[in-house]
Amino acid sequence: MWRVPLSTVEYGDEEIDAIKQVFGRRWLAMGAETEAFEQEFADFVGVKHAVAICNGTAALHLAFLVLDLGPGDQIIQPAMNFVAAANTTVHVGGEPSFADIISLDEPTIDPAQVEQLIGPRTKAVLVMHYGGYPCRMNDIAAICKKHNLFLIEDACHAVGSSYSDSQDGRNCMVGNLGDIACFSFYANKNLAIGEGGMVTTNDDRLAERLRVLRVHGMTTSSWQRKHMPDGNYDVTEHGYNYRLDDLRSAIGRIQLAKLRENNGQRKNLVTAYRRQLKELDGWIVPFRDYPGDSAYHLMAILAPDRASRSQMVSTLNADGVQTSLHYPCVTELKAFESYNDKFQLPLSREFGELVITLPLFPSLTGAELDDVCRIICKMS
Ligand SMILES: Cc1ncc(COP(=O)(O)O)c(C=O)c1O
Repeated sequence: MWRVPLSTVEYGDEEIDAIKQVFGRRWLAMGAETEAFEQEFADFVGVKHAVAICNGTAALHLAFLVLDLGPGDQIIQPAMNFVAAANTTVHVGGEPSFADIISLDEPTIDPAQVEQLIGPRTKAVLVMHYGGYPCRMNDIAAICKKHNLFLIEDACHAVGSSYSDSQDGRNCMVGNLGDIACFSFYANKNLAIGEGGMVTTNDDRLAERLRVLRVHGMTTSSWQRKHMPDGNYDVTEHGYNYRLDDLRSAIGRIQLAKLRENNGQRKNLVTAYRRQLKELDGWIVPFRDYPGDSAYHLMAILAPDRASRSQMVSTLNADGVQTSLHYPCVTELKAFESYNDKFQLPLSREFGELVITLPLFPSLTGAELDDVCRIICKMS
């Protein structure tokens, strides 16, 4: 339907062969393939544990549960985020405490705001690495340490992002920067398997509970029982069915092997976008002088005002170019409008009103990108 789509699935024969092999082994549910995916993902991120989950939202849910976040607990989080973290906060009986972004140019959670929002019921800070660009983790980790708060990474945009620690020179993968991190492998993500997710942590106790809670609270999975003489199990907690299956894990392993190359291609495309859009008067291309690296999940630009945004979106769409907007400020959404009076979020609101997300995926051609930029430059 779109001449230039926003994103596309990037598969080759490798993924198809991997699926065929899973069928050949006659085990489709969570099994050896998922265990291998978890190990490879843990090695990639540099963490002790990676626990595969059926999607990123379920990953957030289990992360909150294993940290014992529950009724009355405040979780500080960015208002510029996909709604999953805020919904999950409400699901566990917690209270989202919305922080603003640093600036229109750096739309990640503002550490100064985080510190201001801390109160007696605050238990955790959740960060979201917008578009794959890591948040200011040095500052946020220091705040969490000072106030004894859990640090959760919503890393759903950031598979393969790394963060450089300017103070101690450490270079660390996203997913290894807090107590626990959640990833999504939804169809439009950098590592896409349709539906899927992963939780990473270095904490043995948290990992153990994650593994139990994702299989109904059972002490063993059906794959483990297949290799046990008596097939016995107990249920130690009221768990969920949040399993990932071997078919998707097989795709995930191939996608993980291709990730560095694909993210490198995304980086080249973002560089080309930036070069062509840098002269636009009044428009902002966020993360312009970002000092670190990114997974380059999104290519977002900001219009000078709302009218220019809708005009630009209409023109691009009429010419066959798909656009999106990541995201409306969470408190602008109907289900969260009651938080509107409580939190001053001028930058997140403005960002949500002006942002346009442009097509970005590894196989986007130079000609397609030039064409998108030509339409934008002509219109602005
Ligand atoms: C920032 C962010 N958090 C959470 C999620 C939820 O992930 P999923 O769609 O896999 O449940 C997404 C994905 O859409 C996301 O972009």
